[in-house]
Amino acid sequence: MDEKTSRLEGFHKKSLDERLELLKKNSEIDEAVDHLVERGLSNEKADQMIENVIGTYELPVGLATNFLINDEDYLIPMVIEESSVVAAASYGAKLARESGGFKATTTEPVMISQIQVTGLSDAHAAKMKVMENKQELMDYADEQDPVLVEHGGGVRDIRCRVLNSEFGKYLIVHLLVDCRDAMGANAVNTMAEALAPRIERLTGGNVYLRILSNLADHRLARARAVWHKEEIGKDTVEGVVQAYEFARVDPYRCATHNKGIMNGVTAVVSATGNDTRAVEAGAHSYAASGGGYSPLTTWEKTAEGHLVGSIEIPVPVGIIGGATSSHPGAQANLEILGVDSASELGEVLASVGLCQNFAALRALASEGIQKGHMKLHAKNVAIQAGAEEEIVDEVAKRMIDEGKVRVDKAEEIIKEL
Ligand code: MEV
Repeated sequence: MDEKTSRLEGFHKKSLDERLELLKKNSEIDEAVDHLVERGLSNEKADQMIENVIGTYELPVGLATNFLINDEDYLIPMVIEESSVVAAASYGAKLARESGGFKATTTEPVMISQIQVTGLSDAHAAKMKVMENKQELMDYADEQDPVLVEHGGGVRDIRCRVLNSEFGKYLIVHLLVDCRDAMGANAVNTMAEALAPRIERLTGGNVYLRILSNLADHRLARARAVWHKEEIGKDTVEGVVQAYEFARVDPYRCATHNKGIMNGVTAVVSATGNDTRAVEAGAHSYAASGGGYSPLTTWEKTAEGHLVGSIEIPVPVGIIGGATSSHPGAQANLEILGVDSASELGEVLASVGLCQNFAALRALASEGIQKGHMKLHAKNVAIQAGAEEEIVDEVAKRMIDEGKVRVDKAEEIIKEL
């Protein structure tokens, strides 16, 4: 196979079959691509995933092109119902390629599990008792998951916080666990449940909750990219920096700014069978962890006048376990993505989030997003109005030309045609 590239020019103009052929040529996963269409979730598999199953629910998988991350090309599957997201990510990544693409890093894949100790008259002394027995507690927690330990993971630390509550002082014990390539929810929850009786005995308190924290601030991914002013224009550089400042000073705007980032992140989290709610909760709580609610990205102008963006987000995701292993679509998407570790997936997520934010801010600060949105939206409206496949494009085009993208207008055009 020739050198793999994600720079698939004109990909969006190809038919679905042609796209699959191109994907095959540019990945090492012929078989996964062959089966991508058929490898949907069967009712039998779905029935093993959740309760009371009555069927499955399909969403499109789009492929974001042009991504260069740490000098490697990535073709990135995204699962999302919203039009324009995949196109925007691909476009932003194309513009970033000219200046070297994305540079991304991660921390170790460490999740936090919390144990809530109540009913203490001497919470600070109780904290000391936990710390005096830290190594023994860590060893006991590790014994709960020998497979994780064998793979290089396991408990890394125990930390304690004393919080004032309506019911007196709480001792909150944090168990920090390196989950390697798993998201790790089951591992850390099992450990916390196992430790609880020991902590009760040590402290004399009552333990209630034993559960992971979605504020996964020990499992972070970071990314940075430069967009050259010659490539995007000086006005765009200025516009994006101003858009960032708007989000920084206004929570109403900041919520939408971060939502745009999560358009990309959540689509890849979904495509890989990971827990979208965990990643969303992590991102938004991290954005609020500095006191106010802040943008997850920052945008600056370099000394030369280029645009530079950066992002830091929690990435509680895995490439083994749960639906990542049991959902055939997730497996195919992971193969297409070609990541070797959960940390590498985290680096992809951070890069996609940053890129998605760039694309949204660029459009918002220039022509606005409706123009791009309308093309696909008009097609959806045409289909909704009952247009047959052969006339969908024509109905959509006429609605856009007339500036009326509505179901009643589409019905009128269908009748004419
Ligand atoms: C739409 O899904 C996302 C945007 O609103 C994001 C943003 O405003 O930055 C375009």
